[in-house]
Amino acid sequence: MRSKHQISTLFLIAFFLLILGCFASPRKNIRSRRPCKEMVFYFHDIIYNGKNFKNATSAIVGAPAWGNHTILANNNHFGNVVVFDDPITLDNNLHSPPVGRAQGLYIYDKKEIFTSWLAFSFVFNSTSHKGSINFAGADPLMNKTRDISVIGGTGDFFMTRGVATLMTDAFEGEVYFRLRVDIKFYECW
Ligand SMILES: *[C@@H]1O[C@H](CO)[C@@H](O)[C@H](O)[C@H]1NC(C)=O
Ligand SMILES: *[C@@H]1O[C@H](CO)[C@@H](O)[C@H](O)[C@H]1NC(C)=O
Ligand SMILES: *[C@@H]1O[C@H](CO)[C@@H](O)[C@H](O)[C@H]1NC(C)=O
Ligand SMILES: *[C@@H]1O[C@H](CO)[C@@H](O)[C@H](O)[C@H]1NC(C)=O
Repeated sequence: MRSKHQISTLFLIAFFLLILGCFASPRKNIRSRRPCKEMVFYFHDIIYNGKNFKNATSAIVGAPAWGNHTILANNNHFGNVVVFDDPITLDNNLHSPPVGRAQGLYIYDKKEIFTSWLAFSFVFNSTSHKGSINFAGADPLMNKTRDISVIGGTGDFFMTRGVATLMTDAFEGEVYFRLRVDIKFYECW
């Protein structure tokens, strides 16, 4: 009598665990298609050209055999690697107070068209944001908008992931460009 009761209790527990499992496991895989957080920033890149050391925020550190480290190479700058430490602002004004730095590199990676590959972080150390957001991806520069991956973050952006849409907001000669970055996080903590 007693053992029968025990067995049925066991079955009841097993049944509830099964139900719980059915509800809990698929939920893990279904992620929201709507962003959990959105932010917009601008960053400003002034590339060193042999004359602007004081203002420059980036420098050519790699060049193909037919180029040099002062001027971006021919053939759509193919083979150039540029390291940058650019100010981030909340609007499109280079002289607005920076809220952080965009730090990393871009690589021009195609002879036939103007395109690059980006790997960088937004590093924040302000009253509004602390921490970093890490980005990587292909940047086909001639497209009006380009999506790159937000591959993670630290501090206020701990474990975040998402997509950042880049737009060239200004392009002045070969020396200055400004990118608008629309960040959509799809994973927030
Ligand atoms: C550096 O920036 C200042 C302030 O924006 C500007 O007046 C100056 O012309 C710039 N110098 C160079 C070499 O670009
Ligand atoms: C670098 O290359 C450019 C052309 O790509 C050339 O005009 C310039 O004189 C070169 N500079 C040096 C320092 O070799
Ligand atoms: C962040 O800002 C604080 C206060 O201005 C400063 O003491 C600290 O060195 C900064 N940290 C970095 C990594 O820039
Ligand atoms: C860039 O633009 C071209 C032509 O408009 C299009 O075919 C291509 O798919 C775009 N690439 C990306 C990554 O958006």
